[in-house]
Amino acid sequence: MTSAAQAETKVYPPSAETVARAHVDAEKYARMYEESVSDPEAFWGEHGKRIDWIKPYTKVKDVNYDFGSVSINWYADGTLNVSANCLDRHLKTRGDQTAIIWEPDDPNDEAQHITYAELHRRTCRMANILESMGVRKGDRVVIYLPMIPEAAYAMLACARIGAIHSIVFAGFSPDALAARINGCDAKVIITADEAPRGGRKTPLKSNADAALLHCKDTVKCLVVKRTGGQTTWIDGRDFDYNEMALEADDYCAPAEMNAEDPLFILYTSGSTGQPKGVVHTTGGYLVYASMTHEITFDYHDGDIYWCTADVGWVTGHSYIVYGPLANGATTLMFEGVPTYPDASRFWQVCEKHKVNQFYTAPTAIRALMGQGNEFVEKCDLSSLRILGTVGEPINPEAWTWYHEVVGKGKCPIVDTWWQTETGGHMMTPLPGAHATKPGSAMKPFFGVQPVVLDPQSGVEINGNGVEGVLCIKDSWPGQMRTVWGDHERFEKTYFSDYKGYYFTGDGCRRDEDGDYWITGRVDDVINVSGHRMGTAEVESALVAHPAVAEAAVVGYPHDIKGQGIYCYVTLMNDREPSEELRKELRQWVRTEIGPIASPDVIQWAPGLPKTRSGKIMRRILRKIAENDFGSLGDTSTLADPSVVEDLIENRANK
Ligand code: WTA
Repeated sequence: MTSAAQAETKVYPPSAETVARAHVDAEKYARMYEESVSDPEAFWGEHGKRIDWIKPYTKVKDVNYDFGSVSINWYADGTLNVSANCLDRHLKTRGDQTAIIWEPDDPNDEAQHITYAELHRRTCRMANILESMGVRKGDRVVIYLPMIPEAAYAMLACARIGAIHSIVFAGFSPDALAARINGCDAKVIITADEAPRGGRKTPLKSNADAALLHCKDTVKCLVVKRTGGQTTWIDGRDFDYNEMALEADDYCAPAEMNAEDPLFILYTSGSTGQPKGVVHTTGGYLVYASMTHEITFDYHDGDIYWCTADVGWVTGHSYIVYGPLANGATTLMFEGVPTYPDASRFWQVCEKHKVNQFYTAPTAIRALMGQGNEFVEKCDLSSLRILGTVGEPINPEAWTWYHEVVGKGKCPIVDTWWQTETGGHMMTPLPGAHATKPGSAMKPFFGVQPVVLDPQSGVEINGNGVEGVLCIKDSWPGQMRTVWGDHERFEKTYFSDYKGYYFTGDGCRRDEDGDYWITGRVDDVINVSGHRMGTAEVESALVAHPAVAEAAVVGYPHDIKGQGIYCYVTLMNDREPSEELRKELRQWVRTEIGPIASPDVIQWAPGLPKTRSGKIMRRILRKIAENDFGSLGDTSTLADPSVVEDLIENRANK
């Protein structure tokens, strides 16, 4: 951002009404933040009590960030059960309160209101079904479901018996699913016949069938009926959830878990190689997810809270299921998409269910902004109090539209910066404590110590008005503990570049007021519609095609998606570029990874710019993709400068 633009940055202080209602005001934030960093043991020792423990912890924090011996432990001698915290402990006081409002894809189908008592029964039945299929404490269960209540039952059922779930987003292909089943050696996969979304249906069960061809034949498949669509059935391998649920017992005792027992694995993209299984554990994660949910969204009893994410992403884990349910909240779960049947769907759902807190992604805001204000204005949004955004930097235009048109200028926007790895919000304005600025994540949450480092020297840059790479000093309870099956990769990815810190992979600016702005990834991860994608993953999908000799993938600015996927492809000598081949490659990547990885641009590249030692100079490829030919930087190390001229000459849609 230029300094002129910075000077123009508007600041939106919270209204007196917002401050009066808020759990945390400015004074309380300052005091609590200070306590949280000056004595984390005392602070988290106290706040750990917000959840129920079977055996209370006596130790709070035991963390080592030294490269080579990284180990992260919170509440290590405490025991608890996450599903008991999300269900059983609410039964006496709010058994009849709605826990989950389920809004189906088709607005003509009826919404469901599932009470805490019902959710408890459903979860117990699912837990008993899993046990009857041989799932035991510590076993892995892959969940590949649409956004239906059974997804929450499945997560909580795993937590109940101490099984570790790994959710695979229903948009992933059979190949990606198989890799994740095998990656964690899952015993069971839970899927549904079909996933309706935006009026279309994804054949989940047949995707699962295709995936299971590449897995051990001991893996069992539990199938939820969603549409009643035709599926093939293998006796002995496939199990009918709906039938079994009729018979299953309504009670299953919660397993006593150690605070550091894994709760779930969630695969996410990194800058190198294949996606890694991020491991979150039980106690610290739940403390952090529930506390951030309550404070960031200023959640009060009786509020209706809606996060539009999918449970296939971490946002769905922490802020549809675990955080809200641990807090006894009413959480809305939406099966559909923002534009079906038309672009007013989000706002109609807000009106219908009188939503108080609404949490979505910048890509959805940008897409809806483009459709015109009438879709918003025809709905009654007077129930809205807090708006949230997550997943990628939000541009000031989209922020302002969200604030003015959706929030009518009266709802604070919490721009929450965090990651799959962090388990919960790391930086965000708090509604009653901070002013907001369009595009800024503002302030760290309690216990979070952000530092801006010089990318080359790794030295902390102090003071305000500075920019660099974002690292976090010290640990917080929601932090990931390891990469599933590869602790070395965990240490190398997050603790080796900048010793003594957790490296986020993001760049960041601390402005003159000391507020934080995330500037985007500094590694080879791109953010497409808020979904993380490793450029290496798309490259390896492309080179797996027989026509492709070499490929390099970079992100480029995209109006709706934030970043689009730009692929430079060098073909085998005997292949000629053609429109058909371009289509075929696009389809190929969709099949290898899933539709979210679909290339936006494929440029034929007779050669790729390389250094004399053969390293692809991505910096140059990024500049060309961004249409920014004037600042290619130092090209003196190029082995063959004519390659770059050719790429510029033939840049797609120049
Ligand atoms: C980006 C999603 C700017 C960032 C919870 C991060 C954001 C990556 C924001 C993590 C935000 C997320 N402002 N950038 N409010 N939130 N990001 O693991 O680059 O899917 O590293 O977690 O998204 O993506 P992930």
